[in-house]
Amino acid sequence: MSRMAGLPAVHPVAGLPAAVRIYEVGARDGLQNESTVVPVAVKAELVRRLFAAGLPVVETTSFVSPRWVPQLADAEELLADLGELGRSTNAPVLVPNVRGLDRALALGVRAIAVFGSATQTFAQRNLGRSVAESLAMFEPVVEQAREQGLWVRAYVSMCFGDPWEGPVPVASVVHVARALMDLGCQELSIGDTIGVATPGHVVALLDALGSAGIARDTTAVHFHDTYGQALANTVTALREGITIVDASAGGLGGCPYAKSATGNLATEDLLWALHGLGVHTGVDLDALAATSAWLAGHLGRPSPSRVVRALAGGASAENGNL
Ligand code: HMG
Ligand code: MG
Repeated sequence: MSRMAGLPAVHPVAGLPAAVRIYEVGARDGLQNESTVVPVAVKAELVRRLFAAGLPVVETTSFVSPRWVPQLADAEELLADLGELGRSTNAPVLVPNVRGLDRALALGVRAIAVFGSATQTFAQRNLGRSVAESLAMFEPVVEQAREQGLWVRAYVSMCFGDPWEGPVPVASVVHVARALMDLGCQELSIGDTIGVATPGHVVALLDALGSAGIARDTTAVHFHDTYGQALANTVTALREGITIVDASAGGLGGCPYAKSATGNLATEDLLWALHGLGVHTGVDLDALAATSAWLAGHLGRPSPSRVVRALAGGASAENGNL
């Protein structure tokens, strides 16, 4: 028995970064798809526990239309409950338009994310407008946010495949990514919204983004795990020089406007792999897994994360409950 409870043995390999910054999306991407509204006190407790577990960045909610995403209609109440915690550059929120920015600024938010699409169909379904029209919607948002000193991230969705359009050309992703960075966004997140990416495709896209002058050190990967490829894709991206990884506590997630989008890469599954590889994250796996088990209790179903389930099983065995 060489391993401590809740952590794998460490076997580093060459070619990986020394540290990874995990961008936690569970409170936003994880919850936005839940049909039953989660009480705002539970959301606030979730965000507090995620920070307490050592996560460096926790995306808290979205300032979108409450008609489009009813689950996150309580963004104001959540931010009020969070107080100072929500007014940090480590607590970004999703903002689609100037109306959303004004709502966020009124609460003292210091970091936002706009979210574009590499495909026309998803732009229409998620934002009610074309790719070009959505870029035009984001332009004043990014400009005003930067003027106010906010940190701004840009997501691009459907970077690998789209449920309506099929495979997505790398050039379409590069076009939207470049346009968003040219607006003044400081970080790019490449979204595999429906989880169809495979490692070779990841390398091809990162190469193309690099050729378009998009820096690796400000590019994040955002994988959903529909086909069980999220972790393989992530390790591939790390080998390519990526050091920012989006993940969702407990593997919750999905996009209400993307047919066949399932959960994100589970933060616990990512932590297990990174710890085993000797890559520093600063996150306490046991504290995080306990948080996901607690949240699963509120949602009324077990976490889809394999690591959360394995650790919960181990805890039962230690307690003699098997
Ligand atoms: P619109 O153009 O105003 O369209 O909204 P609308 O006519 O459907 O407006 C709906 C109502 O919302 C109107 O009010 C607007 O005034 C109001 P009503 O007339 O019904 O009283 N409204 C707002 N209210 C509050 N805050 C606002 C706001 N804006 C308008 N900011 C809009 C266009 C973009 C706002 C809408 O399409 C929308 O909210 N879309 C958001 C969809 C969304 O949140 N999707 C999930 C996030 S993306 C994702 O998950 C992918 C990601 O994880 C990466 C990946 O995996 O790929 C990031
Ligand atoms: Mg997502």
